[in-house]
This record gives sequence, structure tokens and C-alpha cells, in this order.
Amino acid sequence: MAERVVIDPITRIEGHLRIELETANSQITKAWSETTQFRGLETILQGRDPRDAWAFVGRICGVCTSVHAIASINAVENAIGSNPPEQALRIRDIVLGAQEIQDHVIHFYHLHALDFVDVAACIDADPAKAVAFAQSIGSNWKGNNLTRMTAVRDTVKSIVESGQLSVFTNGYWGHPDYRLPPEANLMAVAHYLDALEFQRSMIRIVTVFGGKNPHPNFLVGGMACAIDPNHSESINQVQLDAVQGWINECVDFVTNCYVPDALAIAGVYKDYFDIGAAQPDFLAVGLTGATYAGDPANARVKSVHTEVEPGVVHLDGDKVSVEAFDPAKITEWASSAWYEYAEGDVGLTPDKGETTVKYTGPKPPYTAAPNDGLPWLSDNPEYTWCKAPRYDGYPVQVGPVARILLGYARGHARTKEIVTMAAQKLGITIGQLNSTAGRTLARAAECLLAAELLANESFPTFVANLKGGDIDVFDASKWEPSSWPSQCSGYSFVEVARGNLSHWVTIENGKISRYQCVVPTTWLAGGRDAQGQQGPYEESLAGNGKHPLADPTQPLEPLRTIHSFDPCMSCAVHVLDVDGQEMAEVLT
Ligand code: NI
Ligand code: CA
Repeated sequence: MAERVVIDPITRIEGHLRIELETANSQITKAWSETTQFRGLETILQGRDPRDAWAFVGRICGVCTSVHAIASINAVENAIGSNPPEQALRIRDIVLGAQEIQDHVIHFYHLHALDFVDVAACIDADPAKAVAFAQSIGSNWKGNNLTRMTAVRDTVKSIVESGQLSVFTNGYWGHPDYRLPPEANLMAVAHYLDALEFQRSMIRIVTVFGGKNPHPNFLVGGMACAIDPNHSESINQVQLDAVQGWINECVDFVTNCYVPDALAIAGVYKDYFDIGAAQPDFLAVGLTGATYAGDPANARVKSVHTEVEPGVVHLDGDKVSVEAFDPAKITEWASSAWYEYAEGDVGLTPDKGETTVKYTGPKPPYTAAPNDGLPWLSDNPEYTWCKAPRYDGYPVQVGPVARILLGYARGHARTKEIVTMAAQKLGITIGQLNSTAGRTLARAAECLLAAELLANESFPTFVANLKGGDIDVFDASKWEPSSWPSQCSGYSFVEVARGNLSHWVTIENGKISRYQCVVPTTWLAGGRDAQGQQGPYEESLAGNGKHPLADPTQPLEPLRTIHSFDPCMSCAVHVLDVDGQEMAEVLT
């Protein structure tokens, strides 16, 4: 007899996500991915000046702020025919790179690692053995020393003994499926704390160019930061030296701490390369940080990284094939979501997208207890605020695995090298990247690529151009609305930490008439469509009926799988976290 399990809220993610499950014999048989938070940024944008859109959409998310702003200015520039100077594009590229690396590091250490690392268990560790363990996995991180490991163990000990777990509250500590030896747990917790320090450096890079964080400043037609090596109030040599220092720190941390840790943890939980597979189809417009606004020959927005062309990747076992990407094949369905479309239950292309709320669920707050007699969201065909995007009618995965597979399929040398190294070390195949551990591994591999790209390409090119005298970061020729067509539309795709992000804008007489965002977490967390096809989260849990769940009161295994996607729910449904009453107010 099937047993029902609710996980609500799923913690250690950005925003609110609820998962309803049915299990039998310690395996998941059915799953529903339920976004319980409503937002309506797209509606708020209607009638506004498109040059302001970036400031609104940046507020979609405090984590992914820059990436929405950049996707927005790209889309608006694409619509009005603005051509920002190359140095402005380079700056955006540096910001995207720093944001991506910060996101991946936070995800691995602060949002995901504790699914595999038992914090409480590290109090039994011998600090000397923790140092030895770090060396054994090839970690050359400067924090791997006796003084540091001893200090971390003593800190955790005092936290655990105090009974107030602070940032470590709400873990399933002591769950029998925590498998690391005590010293590996200690090393991982030490790196967790180091990663908190490290991520600050990445954000400093963003603040140099964007003035502040979160919600840095951007500009349609370029960037809002002045560059002049000879003036102290603009970006000058002092700041460039500081940025170079943070980038060096980044390469060191990712190479010597993050990557060895990810490989070591993946090695201990190797069975997770056979758990959590979702649909074997993937979409990306290039490697990490790539932008795309249509055929590069005709696009008005210049792509920054063009060495890997956009594509849709299909996995058939270990066979990887790729087909050309066509933005016109993207549709969003509201079959299982609390919206209604004028034409009924159809898929709408984002340029014709609608955000009309029609809430049909139970009165919140929702029950979290499986057998208390209260309704389940999944008792109804509509159960989420997340639309379900489809490519050519089918669900696809986006994110690091999609980009790694695309780079691999398109023959990108460095991607192939990193993937081969990791696969050999762990004894896995390329097909196994479609899994819980595969997503976590691909994110680490991609972070290394992103760090190298930032250190060896994006930043040096920007500095070299600067030394050549190129300090122009703004093109004013399309600033005035009188210079725009009376009606125009544009879109932009950007490859950001969690996957493929696109913004779509239509402008009429200088004002936004339609705005849609198709966000990575929307692609992944969306529910069933009119054909009954599950979204990737759902498929990863219930696709084959074999996903483990040993103890429904401690659902650690499904958490591992959902966390492996790096959910950002604020982004997925793009208004504020409101309760049911307030939601009705938003409606009227
Ligand atoms: Ni976000
Ligand atoms: Ca949307």
C-alpha cells in the first residue's frame, strides 16, 4: 500500500518548494513538484519604460539578481536595436562569471553538501586525520592544517553541546545513510566555513562594476560604471588590481578546495550516479555565461562566448547527440499551474506568454502531515505556481549538465578534458551525468571552467582593451524612445548558474506591453503538462519507481536529488512571498 509523504518546505534552497510523494517498499512511486509562492513581476512590468525593466526584474531574486538584469537589458537592446560597446559586454561577462562561481560554491557547500556531510559527526574527528584525509583526496587548500581543523572541530563541538545548532539547524544528523568517516566530515565543515569567506570575494567583483550588491546597477546600451585609469572616482588601476586578486583567489579555491571535495564526496556516494535521472534531453545556448539573441549573423545583441553553438542534446545511454536550437520551439504550459490562458490549455510561446492568475487550490497554509485528512495539492490537477516550459513539446533539463553535455557534444576541448578526468577518477560514464551525483559533479566541473574563463579570457581581454585605450562603455544612440520603432520585440538567452534563462519583451510606443521570463528553475520545477508529461524534478524522483526513500520521517534521499538541481523558487515563479489572503489582493 502506497504511503504519502510531504516535504514542505524544502529547506536550503532559495524560496519555497513543496514536494508530495507516494512511496511503496522504500521507493518513490509518484511525485509532484509544487511551488507554493506566487510572484507576478511580469505583470508589474506592463506599461513601464523598458529602460527600467532591469531594475524590476533584478528583484525577482536576491541571489540571481545580476543575471536577470543582464538578460533584461539584452532583451531590450535586442528589441530597440541598441549596440552596446564591446567593453560593456566584457564587464557584463565578468559579472556573470563572478556570479556563477559564487552561486556554484554556495550551492555545493551551503545548500547541498550537508545532504552528504554529517555536521554533528565531525566532533568525533581527529584533526590530524582530517588534514591527512584532505591530502589523500588531492586537496591543496591552505585551510588544510592542524590548527584550523582543531579550531573548527572545537567550534562545532561547542555549538552541538549548546543545543543551539544555528546555521546547522534542521538537518537529519545521525541519519544512517551519512557515509563519510568523521575526519571527512570535519574537513568538509571546515571548507563550508572557508567557502563563506570566499564567496564574499566574488561579490566584491560585482560591486566594483555594479556599485553594490545585491541588485547592482546596469544600463540599457552599456554599463553604468565609468572607466578612467587616471581618475579615482571611476574604475581605475587600484580596483583592477583588487579584481585580479579576487580572481586569483577564485581559481585557487575552486581548483584546490571545491573540485577535490566534490570528487571525494561523489566517490563515496557513487550509487547516486544511478539515482535521480530525469528526462534525457537537455537545452543550452552555450557554455557557462554564454548569451544568445538569435542567429549571431543577424542578432543585434553580440554573444560573448560563441565557441560552443546553442543546441539541444539527447542522451541515449552513453550516446550523445545534438540538434540545432530553435527559440520558436519553446512553449510554456499552465495545465498544472494556477494560471489561465485565453485560449485554454495550450502551450504559449514566451513572446505570446500570459500571466493571468486563477487560483483553484485549498486555502493556505497547506497541510504538511500526510494523514491528517486535509486536502493535498496534488488531489487537484492544478497544484503549483510554476508554469511548465517545454521544448518542441517535451520537457528538457537545463543547467551545468546540459552545458557540459553540449560542450562535450560540440567537441569543446577543455570540457572534454575535465569530463574525462572526472569520469576516469570516479569510474562513471557520460550517460551517468544524468543523475543526482552527476548534476553535482557537473556543477563543480563547470565552476572550474568558469574560473578559468574569468581568469584567462574575460578579465584579461577587458584589461588589454583598456590598456589599448578602449574605455567606452555606453552607446547613447538608441537611448531616446523617439529612436525606437513604434512596435518592436526582442529576447535574450543567458546561461546562468542554474541553467538557461530567457527574457522576452514586446515594446509598443515606448512602453512594455508584454514581458515574460523563462527561468532555469521554471524549466526544472514545473509540473505536468496537458500530455501528462512530468517536469524534471518529478521525473527525477518518480521516473522509474526506484528512487530510494528509507525513512519517510527523514526524507534525506529525495532532498539530495531535489537539491542537486539547485532550486531557486523566487526565480521560478518570478510579488512577494504572500499568504493566501494577500494573494487574493494581488489578484484584484
Ligand atoms: Ni534566483
Ligand atoms: Ca514566466
